[in-house]
Amino acid sequence: MTLTFFIRTFGCQMNVADSLAYARVLENLGCTPAESEESADILVVNTCSVRAKAEERAISYIGAVSRRRAEFSGDTVSADDRGIAFVGCMATVRGEEIKQRFSEVRVIVSAREIDSFEDRILAAWPTLSASVRSTDTTAILRSVEQFERFLPVVRGCINHCTYCIVPAARGDWIESLPPSGIIEEVDNLIRSGVKAITFLGQNVLSYGSEIDHSSADVPPGWESVRPDYGFADLFADIRDRFAESGVWFKFLTSHPRDVKDRFIDIIANDPSFSRHFHLPLQAGDDDVLKRMGRGYTSAEYLSLIANLRSQIPDLRLTTDIIVGFPGEDEDAFERTMEMLRQIRFDAAFTFLYSPRAGTPAEKWADPVPRNVKSERLQQLIALQNNIALENASAKVGQTRRVLIEGPAMKPDDRGRSMVAGITREEEVVVLEGDASDYGTFVDAELIGAGLRSFTGERIQGK
Ligand code: SAH
Ligand code: SF4
Ligand code: F3S
Repeated sequence: MTLTFFIRTFGCQMNVADSLAYARVLENLGCTPAESEESADILVVNTCSVRAKAEERAISYIGAVSRRRAEFSGDTVSADDRGIAFVGCMATVRGEEIKQRFSEVRVIVSAREIDSFEDRILAAWPTLSASVRSTDTTAILRSVEQFERFLPVVRGCINHCTYCIVPAARGDWIESLPPSGIIEEVDNLIRSGVKAITFLGQNVLSYGSEIDHSSADVPPGWESVRPDYGFADLFADIRDRFAESGVWFKFLTSHPRDVKDRFIDIIANDPSFSRHFHLPLQAGDDDVLKRMGRGYTSAEYLSLIANLRSQIPDLRLTTDIIVGFPGEDEDAFERTMEMLRQIRFDAAFTFLYSPRAGTPAEKWADPVPRNVKSERLQQLIALQNNIALENASAKVGQTRRVLIEGPAMKPDDRGRSMVAGITREEEVVVLEGDASDYGTFVDAELIGAGLRSFTGERIQGK
């Protein structure tokens, strides 16, 4: 009997990568992709807990989709086989509560134990059988995933920033994939036509740092790896193996404290590597940074940026900022604004601080009223939008290689068919084209700049 599945993903790139792995497992169990979330026998909801809003979104989704599923009158195998698998970060921290609350949720799989996904699904859907093995595991790929893929290389986080739920949700340990496994996976992806691969970790630069090479039980795959092998070594090996492939290699997220000269040097000297650094600053005030547990001062962050810019002239720099951390007063907030003015990030993801259960900061005095915090956030967004737009406008006239990923949101105002693509540094470029361009590299001149994307024009003859 064939069951159908649908996966709804909230949260970050790590969840996107995990959802793809879950889809593989389900296809290997003989399940096929469903037409819709209403009709799916197995609905997997992969969730995020990073801020209260992310959790609220998942809860209202489950409520709404459960109602729509109850009303669904199309073909299904049998009511007994319909259910929801609630997975991901929120499944770790609030799974049991959600299971009590929504009767359709029949299984919880925490983001701390993603390897048990198959066993849990089999236990919850006993009509499935582990012996079925499908050969086609690509039916569920979204169009962009045919060309660009996330590859988690290190899982978990041991940084314990005092506001952050991620270590609790995903693991307060780290676990790195052995280099041989990564190289094999990269090889497979390139053979299957993927043109850009993003190496992922909550702090991707922590890669390999948990391995004790002197211990008698080095984890499998690490036995013959040289001591102190880290992310820079991995990228050096990737360069030696795959530089000729023309594929782009990107990385996310780098903790500012862990960016070292050797890594910068490898990136600066090979065009396969993205010059996009996402370096979450979080705050500009040293006292706030200290209480966040970030491990750097504003001066250290500035000197890192100066160093990066001197070695990588075409650097693209983005960041995350939290506004309203407990005890952040007007002066401290102003220091964050000043850092933004000074550094001039190409983009910033900006968040209102959201207290997370069980984190140290949750219990700290937080006298600044919410409306003041919201006003500060608006001020900061306005400043950063201006900077981003000025940076983008200064790039007009430059040329870029663009990996075309799919259709643009709409045709241009002259009715021409438009496609959207991405540059090595994650800039979005919209230009004229059609479905025959998907998955190809196109050289383009940037002719217009917006906050989130550029318009481009093909350079003829290429
Ligand atoms: N591992 C990545 C991503 C962490 S979550 C990193 O360390 O950069 C992504 C961003 O969410 C963080 O950088 C931070 O800016 C924000 N964030 C995390 N916890 C938060 C909280 N409790 N309230 C508001 N923003 C938060
Ligand atoms: Fe959270 Fe800090 Fe780890 Fe990022 S580095 S996941 S912000 S604890
Ligand atoms: Fe990602 Fe959200 Fe979990 S940001 S790691 S899905 S808490």
